[in-house]
Amino acid sequence: MIQLVFGITNTSNIYKFWHAAGIPNSQNVSGDKENQGPKLIVAFSKKGFTVKETVALSGAHTIGQARCAVFRGRLYNNTHINAPFAAAVRAKCPGNRGSGNNNLSQLDVTSPTTFDNAYFKNAVSQKGLLHSDQQLYSGEFTRTAVDAYANNAASFMEDFAEAMNKMGRLSPLTGSSGQIRTNCRKVN
Ligand code: HEM
Repeated sequence: MIQLVFGITNTSNIYKFWHAAGIPNSQNVSGDKENQGPKLIVAFSKKGFTVKETVALSGAHTIGQARCAVFRGRLYNNTHINAPFAAAVRAKCPGNRGSGNNNLSQLDVTSPTTFDNAYFKNAVSQKGLLHSDQQLYSGEFTRTAVDAYANNAASFMEDFAEAMNKMGRLSPLTGSSGQIRTNCRKVN
């Protein structure tokens, strides 16, 4: 486990922290799926992150799971998706919006519990679970970084650690001037 500044040591807390740091939830951009990737890049750049740093941070999806409600659209509407992979995940995530919303799937289908660079290799082979994961491989600038990390695990590890520490230094709100949200999507 990577020990971060401010003692955040598990991914659930990191995810909360990410939002507490003022980086908008992807929810804010989910209405426009085509431009979700670029919008996320812009959102992170407003917080001082380069494209490469944002791609490195996305590599956090090398572990953990996501809910069917979050990736259903990708499974049933996207073309840039590996067919056997899509079929396997669809079995756990029905196309009907009313059912299975909380069914979980691994964000990294190859090595879901190992922190490695398989997440990037998955994007190269169109096995990104989230629309935003796959979009990283569609954008000209982000694709370069994805290829670099897919080919060099050590550089991903190094850049990820640096980017996480950078995120940890983002204008932390202390005392009564801020709050750690119990639900990432709304003020407590
Ligand atoms: C510390 C880094 C990160 C962690 C620990 C993390 C973790 C997660 C987890 C656990 C989910 C699943 C949420 C759910 O199913 O409800 C998720 C979803 C998502 N993540 Fe990440 N993530 C990180 C960084 C990023 C970055 C840098 C990006 C974009 C550049 C990103 C984009 C997304 C998107 C678009 C979703 C779908 C959520 C939705 O539509 O509401 N994540 N993330």
